[in-house]
Amino acid sequence: MSEGVPVLVLASGGGSNFENLVARQEDAGVSVAGLITDNADAYAQERAARLNVRCDVIERETYDTKRDFEASIIEAARKVDAEFILLAGFMRILSPEFIRQFERRIINIHPSLLPAFKGADGIRDAYDYGVKVTGVTVHFVDAGIDTGEIIMQRAVTIDDSDTLDDAAYKIHQTEYSLYPEAIEKVIKMREDEEI
Ligand code: GRF
Repeated sequence: MSEGVPVLVLASGGGSNFENLVARQEDAGVSVAGLITDNADAYAQERAARLNVRCDVIERETYDTKRDFEASIIEAARKVDAEFILLAGFMRILSPEFIRQFERRIINIHPSLLPAFKGADGIRDAYDYGVKVTGVTVHFVDAGIDTGEIIMQRAVTIDDSDTLDDAAYKIHQTEYSLYPEAIEKVIKMREDEEI
């Protein structure tokens, strides 16, 4: 495993960004120490197995309270000494208490140019609106939904002939370059004691 700042990735679904982060971890200056998924059916688990990354399934339904569920994630993060938590398609809202414990240490990638098209379906919402420029945002997570301080953004052009699938493809390709770059930027900020 590469030497880098240890990070924990949280994903609920396909996990293509997780896999991309593992592939580019050295460039980003991090070491992906584990994957947590809240979805026992998430394909991301298979990627983790193939990439030899430890994966824990932590499902909300297993716990009586959100607090206990989040305590389990925090324990997993502490176990691997994670300095940052990277959300990569994690479909749950973290509580303000959780976020407070990792202030400016939780990063998310969102498939639109925030503050436009917040929420779970940023690609489709932008496409359906008919925007000709959308994009990708990497931001720190705060207590709001897709409201935290922006780290980096990159625009993606939607051509008139693009289908929704074409638009999604372009967005995802942009995510794969932007997320590692933004993390590298954060690691430099940390070294320069700016965060
Ligand atoms: C990405 O589009 C990301 O921006 C959003 O969720 C999607 C996750 O895709 N937050 P994948 O699971 O990484 O393939």
